[in-house]
Amino acid sequence: MHPFFDIKQVSNFQSSIMKTSPLQSFQFSIFNFQFNKSILALCFLLSILLSACTAREPHYTIGVSQCLDDAWRQKMNYEMEREMLLYPDLTLTRRIAYGSNELQCAQIDSFIAERVDLLIVSPNEAEEVKPAVNRAFRAGIPVIVADRRVTGDEWTAFIGGDNYKVGLLMAEWVSERFAFRNGKSQSAPFTVLEVAGLPGSTPATLRHKGLMEGLDRISSSVVIHTVMGSWYQDDAEKVVADYLRSHPLPDAVVAHNDLMAIGAAQAVQNSRKTETNSRIRSVPAIPIMGVDGIRPGLQAIVDGQIECSATYSSRGDLVIQTAAHILHGEPFVRDTVLETTMIDEAAAYPMLKQYEAITRDLQTFHIIQTQTESRWQQLRMDNKILWLCVVISVAFLLIALAYILFAQRRLQTEISHEILPQLENVQEAIQLSRRDEAFAERLRQVVDEHLTDPNLSVEYLGSMLQLSRTQLFRRVKTVAGKGPLDYIRERRLIRADEMLHTTDMTIQQVAIEYFGHLPSER
Ligand code: FRU
Repeated sequence: MHPFFDIKQVSNFQSSIMKTSPLQSFQFSIFNFQFNKSILALCFLLSILLSACTAREPHYTIGVSQCLDDAWRQKMNYEMEREMLLYPDLTLTRRIAYGSNELQCAQIDSFIAERVDLLIVSPNEAEEVKPAVNRAFRAGIPVIVADRRVTGDEWTAFIGGDNYKVGLLMAEWVSERFAFRNGKSQSAPFTVLEVAGLPGSTPATLRHKGLMEGLDRISSSVVIHTVMGSWYQDDAEKVVADYLRSHPLPDAVVAHNDLMAIGAAQAVQNSRKTETNSRIRSVPAIPIMGVDGIRPGLQAIVDGQIECSATYSSRGDLVIQTAAHILHGEPFVRDTVLETTMIDEAAAYPMLKQYEAITRDLQTFHIIQTQTESRWQQLRMDNKILWLCVVISVAFLLIALAYILFAQRRLQTEISHEILPQLENVQEAIQLSRRDEAFAERLRQVVDEHLTDPNLSVEYLGSMLQLSRTQLFRRVKTVAGKGPLDYIRERRLIRADEMLHTTDMTIQQVAIEYFGHLPSER
């Protein structure tokens, strides 16, 4: 047994740890590399999974700025909403300006601030609302101008009726009335009262222009008087009543829309009821023409309140289709001018029936819309919950990964700062003890060979082992725990003891042989 270690045990330990240490460290770094690689692969997979989950279809928000909220616009809104059902990636937000330019500009600005993806605008008055429309366009928002135009070309698409043609249709109708003259003498002037829409709006301007130019072409004996009804039935009723108080009865009335035509008809009717106004009571009803040809106008024609109207399409469906094309980067028509035709008494009735069907359709549509909306809400909710789960799971995974990385680092640090230095110490100790073991072996050999040599002294032993006296003393002390002389003596005693037990030699013979004198002599 070695004085310090059980050498065999230590060398086993060493061979299992130290001897293979370069290989071990190589394997360790390979392991590290592979471990890091698998973490990277896992992260990569996770990011693919996440990006697959996040790669949702883009969603677009459309802002709709409506100048008014009358029956014609409600029809347009309905057409838009119905078309929207075909585009689940589009959301529509509508704001109504109720005839106020300032409000409409503010609403457009709020759409710009909300960064809508597209703006649909029906400007109340072209010049007043134009700056806001331009702001939207310059902010990079595609702008579809619907029904009422803005001047300039800072818009993406236009869809609306042919207002100049509407004016021409009015002129044609007036000339027909002029030809009949209702029994009036040919020489008397033929007076037409024009009830115009809001002066700053493009339909009012163009309808007036079409009417005037159309009449110029047809006849020069028609006198036009214009009053402003601003698109509203009540306003029209008031301005026509005022007009009737101070003017002779006109031969015909053209109103820029059906609502104002109805207002004019009511004003005429009210004047006729007035006992004092005998001049009006004595003449037949005045023929009145409106524009739009939607439900209230058609009903007024069927009821005989007004004589006719001209179609003025809203085509909200086409507006949404164009918006979708623009947003999806598909080709679209920049300027779409919708056709217009006359609606007389014969056409009004079937059209009215059609509108009644549309109204029923509208009710069904609203039910479907509400149901669809609640389903969408449910879906959005489910989607949110799903996302929350995904986010929580990913967060957990990331925490786990971070922990693994942290633990790996800590292990590495422990190995390099604590375990490896300890192992180096052990290795050093083992090498030392190996050297000592070899020295102990050689010492015993040399001493045992010279046990009977009377010259065996510390100097003699030192010269044989090639060590100085001090070196010899230190090394013998290390491996044997005693000085060289005591060691020699101990070896002689062990050999003498062996001789006494294994040979016939007497104590005296053994003493002289190994110690050079008899035991009693010292
Ligand atoms: C509806 C309306 C219609 C008219 C159009 C002109 O708001 O007044 O009656 O034809 O706008 O823009």
